[in-house]
Amino acid sequence: MIILGIETSCDETAASVIEAKEKKSKVRLLSNVVASSLPMHAKTGGIIPEKAAREQIKYIIPVIKKSLSDAKLRLRDIDSLAVTVGPGLIGSLLVGVETAKTLAYVWNKPIIPVNHLIGHIYANWIECDKKIEFPALALIVSGGHTDLVLIKNHGKIKWLGGTRDDAAGEAFDKIGRLLGLPYPGGPVIEKASERGDASRFTFPRPMINSNDFDFSFSGLKTAALRTINKCHSELDSESLPEQTVNDLCTSVQQAIIDVLIKKTLKAAVKYNAKSILLGGGVSANQKLRDGLKLKIENFKLKIPFFVPEKWLCTDNAAMIATSAFFNYKPVPWKKITANPELYFD
Ligand code: KG4
Ligand code: ZN
Repeated sequence: MIILGIETSCDETAASVIEAKEKKSKVRLLSNVVASSLPMHAKTGGIIPEKAAREQIKYIIPVIKKSLSDAKLRLRDIDSLAVTVGPGLIGSLLVGVETAKTLAYVWNKPIIPVNHLIGHIYANWIECDKKIEFPALALIVSGGHTDLVLIKNHGKIKWLGGTRDDAAGEAFDKIGRLLGLPYPGGPVIEKASERGDASRFTFPRPMINSNDFDFSFSGLKTAALRTINKCHSELDSESLPEQTVNDLCTSVQQAIIDVLIKKTLKAAVKYNAKSILLGGGVSANQKLRDGLKLKIENFKLKIPFFVPEKWLCTDNAAMIATSAFFNYKPVPWKKITANPELYFD
């Protein structure tokens, strides 16, 4: 089966073609095109939804055309369409949803609506040689979400907990902004951390020992703000020395990672997970990837750990097409609507 996926939930306009035969066989990536309006948002320090959607209207057709030509296919060769219907920004979602519905109608193709968060989990199946056993425990860490879910089987997902306020990616982005770093803060903080000293500043690990699988990162943001202000007043300066910024980044990053790892392992043990999966933009963070892998080994947990290639952690359409393949439930195009507040059922 050949599926064309379309993803426009936030600031990316993406289209991808995948091919898969049966659930046991490998998902092959035939093309993966992502046009990002990030450089534009970097100038404003964050996403302006109306501007994001206007850019996506410009990109959507060229991106779909390129995904087909990269795959050396035409639209008539596609068996099915898949599109992100939520959660996300309504203007952005509509660009992808209405385009996909039009293509489904004109070409008389089946179309599958996909939840963006579940898509992030399915990035783990793309070009994956190993079998992912169920139940699988997944941590989804993105700009808007931090969720722990148990996947009992394809289509059978139980939500275990999530953030009560800011998402992990949001914490990286907001603290990056407080430090005067460009948007998005996550990758910039990761880079700065490489030259930082973790012993200089200590930040709280919110809810690390709580008796549930929830998270909270807004307190960390407040603690970071207080420390940053203190540094400014001690130096009596508007800007902080590069080393101070690096040291702050290292400690902030470690605080976020420590909480994510501890809760993920706790959930994996409690639910007897046979696999642990990471997904979402923050899972591109090398310290998080290495840290989780190391902790699984240190605790001698014989649970295979999966994380997508870094370029498949951030938003893309291959994960949307892959999710549609494993949860193949076409819906009449007329019944498909964008839902910015879509969550786990
Ligand atoms: O999944 P994603 O591309 O979009 C959403 O669905 O939100 O995630 C974007 C988020 C941003 O908050 C960004 O700062 C974060 O992922 N991110 C990272 C890294 N790369 C992206 N956070 C930490 N370290 C990274 N290397
Ligand atoms: Zn995402």
